[in-house]
Amino acid sequence: MAAQPRRTVVISGATSGMGRATALARLDRGDTVIAIGSSAARGRSLVEQAAAGDRLCFVHADLSSVAENERVVAEIGRDNPVVDALVLFANRPSPRRVETAEGLEHTFALYYLSRYLLARGLTPALDAAADPVVVSVAGVGTTAGSIHWDDLQLTRRYGTVRAQLQAGRANDLLGVAFAEQHAGRARFVLYHPGFTRSGDLSPLNPLARAVIRSLARVAARPVAEAIEPIHGFLDHPPREALTAVDRGTLVDPSLPTLNRKDALRLARVTEDLLRTLRAG
Ligand SMILES: NC(=O)c1ccc[n+]([C@@H]2O[C@H](COP(=O)([O-])OP(=O)(O)OC[C@H]3O[C@@H](n4cnc5c(N)ncnc54)[C@H](OP(=O)(O)O)[C@@H]3O)[C@@H](O)[C@H]2O)c1
Repeated sequence: MAAQPRRTVVISGATSGMGRATALARLDRGDTVIAIGSSAARGRSLVEQAAAGDRLCFVHADLSSVAENERVVAEIGRDNPVVDALVLFANRPSPRRVETAEGLEHTFALYYLSRYLLARGLTPALDAAADPVVVSVAGVGTTAGSIHWDDLQLTRRYGTVRAQLQAGRANDLLGVAFAEQHAGRARFVLYHPGFTRSGDLSPLNPLARAVIRSLARVAARPVAEAIEPIHGFLDHPPREALTAVDRGTLVDPSLPTLNRKDALRLARVTEDLLRTLRAG
């Protein structure tokens, strides 16, 4: 079998769980990895464990901040004119409604808006690659939850699951709009890994933590198994502009959660929101 060409892979949420395992596995395969996370200690531990020299660059950033995403995009673009793949994992459930310094609901900002900013912002570097791909690891195929168009920032009825489901759906629609608007040459893959033995449960209350831990022991997949398909997406990007995979199964693109009109509407609303933030 011919050796895979070495790639430059940007990974958001690369300091723990599936993102960390993907970073280490890509380094083992000879790739260069730019790993983003908000914990300096976890970043240091990744760098020490990988011992990959200048093939691993840790970028310390709070991706719940629009300004930080823009700084990261500028830094990565300056140092890496070519990016072959962008893999998006960063997320952290928030039991209470938290507002970022920019006035956005934290889950919306971190789990959705960061992915929007990184995918769109890194498009010039991705477009310079031979076979670029964006992989967004979230919950495609899940039909529960919805976009709360009249209250995207969940000021009225906040709930951890409600916020996670809204941002997860927004990520599905981000993929649809990226492909539909030909936002770049990169193919977009929405990937749902299924219940996996990873995830920082520390923000959750002790009861929720204990329940999820016991369930995970019997029902969750090992991290290595959950990330295996990601290597396939990176090594052989699909031909289609958008591919959605829920565990091993292709998701029907006509599913209402991948609605084209909703996707274009969310892209418009997101651009308006960013314009307002940048102006103020
Ligand atoms: N685990 C599951 O069962 C499961 C199932 C379906 C979908 N997913 C999705 O898969 C993705 C990865 O899940 P996981 O279980 O591997 O999660 P995880 O172990 O909790 O990892 C989350 C990553 O996000 C980073 N992160 C959190 N807040 C950040 C911030 N403000 N700025 C920058 N980075 C931040 C963390 O790094 P720092 O600590 O350094 O900030 C960490 O590297 C998530 O999007 C999740 O929703 C997971």
